[in-house]
Amino acid sequence: MTAGQADALQRLWPKWGLDIDGQRVIDLGEMFGNTNPVVLEIGFGMGEATAQMAAADRRTNVLAVDVHTPGQGTLLNLAEQSGLSNIRVGNGDAIILLREMLAPDSLGGLRVYFPDPWPKKRHHKRRLIQAEFLDLAATRLKPGAIVHCATDWEPYAEQMLEVLTAHPDFENTQADGGFAPRPDFRPLTRFEGQGLDKGHVVNDLLFRRVQHGDQDQDQPPTGV
Ligand SMILES: C[S@@+](CC[C@H](N)C(=O)[O-])C[C@H]1O[C@@H](n2cnc3c(N)ncnc32)[C@H](O)[C@@H]1O
Repeated sequence: MTAGQADALQRLWPKWGLDIDGQRVIDLGEMFGNTNPVVLEIGFGMGEATAQMAAADRRTNVLAVDVHTPGQGTLLNLAEQSGLSNIRVGNGDAIILLREMLAPDSLGGLRVYFPDPWPKKRHHKRRLIQAEFLDLAATRLKPGAIVHCATDWEPYAEQMLEVLTAHPDFENTQADGGFAPRPDFRPLTRFEGQGLDKGHVVNDLLFRRVQHGDQDQDQPPTGV
C-alpha cells in the first residue's frame, strides 16, 4: 500500500467507508444522504472506472465493494479529488453485503466488471456469476434494475449469458438474446486493458430485473 492510499483510508474511511461485517441492514438513504438510486459495483479493483462513472452521473449513488485494501485507498482519493459525494466504499465480501446488509428491492443496479475468471475447470465453482448468486442478487434489485457484467474471458462470458438467460428474474435487454454492444458509459477498466493487451475479446451483458405479475395487475379481479 502506498502512503497516499494509507492516508486516504485513515482520513476518509470514517466518512465514506463501510465495513462489511454482516451485522446490520444498511439504510442506503441515510448512508448517501439522499434517495437517489444506488448501484452496487462488485470488485472495483483500483476504482478508476468507478470514479469516472460516478463523476459522469452524480445523481446515481455507487456502493463500490472490494476486498483489496490498496484499491479502496485509491478510490477514496479519487472520490475526494473529484468531489464525488456519490461514492461509498465497502471492504469485504459482496455476498455477505448482499445477503446480510442490503434490504430486499434496495438496489437500482448491479455492476460486475471483469470478475476473477477462474479459468481452471476445478475452480469454476468459485466464479461469482452463477445461478445461486443471481438468486440472491435478484432479491436485492428493484424491478427494472439493470445488471451489467463485462469480461474478457470468453468461456466465462458464455457462462454469464447462459445463467442470466436461464434465470426467471432477469431478461436480456438485447433483442437477439446475445451480448450487448460495449456501452459508451463504461470506461476502460484496468483489467480490461490487460486483457486487451493479450488479445482477449471483451463481452458486455446487460440484463434487466423482471417485474413478475405485471400482466396480472392489469387484469380485472376474477371471482367477484
Ligand atoms: C479481476 S479484478 C477486476 C477489477 C476491476 N473491476 C477491473 O476491471 O479492473 C476482480 C476484483 O474483484 C474483487 N473480488 C472478488 N471477489 C469478491 C467478493 N466476493 N467481494 C468483493 N470483491 C471481490 C477482487 O478483489 C478484485 O479486485
